[in-house]
Amino acid sequence: MKALVPAGGTGTRLRPLSYSLPKALIPVANKPVLQHILESIRDLGVTEIGVVAGHGDRDIAEAVGDGSRYGVELTWIRQDRPRGLAHCVRIARSYLGDSDFVMYLGDNMLPDGVGDIAAEFAATRPAAQLVVSRVPDPRAFGVAEVDGDGRVVRLAEKPARPRSDLALTGVYFFTPAIHRAVWSITPSARGELEITDAVQLLVDQGHDVRAVRYQGYWKDTGRAEDVLECNRHVLASLRPRITGDVGEECEVNGPAVIEEGAKVTRSRIVGPVVIGANAVVEDSHVGPNVCIAAGCTLRDVRLSDSLTLDGAVLSGVNDLHGSIIGRHATVVAPGRSTARHRLVVGDHTHIEVA
Ligand code: G1P
Repeated sequence: MKALVPAGGTGTRLRPLSYSLPKALIPVANKPVLQHILESIRDLGVTEIGVVAGHGDRDIAEAVGDGSRYGVELTWIRQDRPRGLAHCVRIARSYLGDSDFVMYLGDNMLPDGVGDIAAEFAATRPAAQLVVSRVPDPRAFGVAEVDGDGRVVRLAEKPARPRSDLALTGVYFFTPAIHRAVWSITPSARGELEITDAVQLLVDQGHDVRAVRYQGYWKDTGRAEDVLECNRHVLASLRPRITGDVGEECEVNGPAVIEEGAKVTRSRIVGPVVIGANAVVEDSHVGPNVCIAAGCTLRDVRLSDSLTLDGAVLSGVNDLHGSIIGRHATVVAPGRSTARHRLVVGDHTHIEVA
């Protein structure tokens, strides 16, 4: 089995961060979403992975390299612009050959793993097997109607009136039967070749299409609040490891990862917290649910439920929560601010808080 990871989306809902940072590289627990995905594909025993990228493909390739670091072998498939998931399958045809494959969307996190579902697919080999999750409001997703035997009877992409509460999670298992289907559909109202339409065609043609319910945590990391929520979930199982330098006048409660070269001085850390390599934290209160990426500087800051990306600088901001601060951005409060702020700040931005 091979894998296909569409990672070419423009991430409009994650602006301004996604203007300069491809959404596949947004960090969750200080690791790009794409890295989490590559590792969970590898955990299925699948090591040949085709990554479809266009927007930001160089940055993505630079971040994950050839995949050998994660024990996988990546092949890059270029998409000129986002034209839909079925288009990704079309342009991956020669890479995929006649292999079965798992398509795992580059912005979907299923940290509890889909090993059981993959094993079921390998044992039964229906034409397609969709991973679905019960959600209260599935209108933002593909929605599956399923009979009592787990057979898909109908699919709808983002229906205004969903006929079930089973959302398509963004993980699909396919046999080569999908290839003919992706060439037989036309673009949807949003101008994309929808994988949902291709799978519906398989259903219409009488192929065996199955849906298996995923019981674990699932998040489409489309918006800043989704990224933060997913971050909280992944941090809940953080294994503490302190290799950085924590001064004696610091207090560390709850699980914390403090990486090599990080320096924490006169601060209170309330886990779960990750402080990346070479970050500097002084006179601050950090946590819970905070990830500080490599090379950040925090001075006299109170920060909870937030991410600061590589090289960000925060100073004097004394109550920042629910925030994502872009790479090398600076947020400063010259007069020391104690008001509660919630900021989503793009890379290299400078903000001065009153
Ligand atoms: C895509 C699929 C949709 C699925 C969703 C999961 O939507 O078209 O069926 O439920 O991913 O994240 P998109 O993210 O392209 O809007």
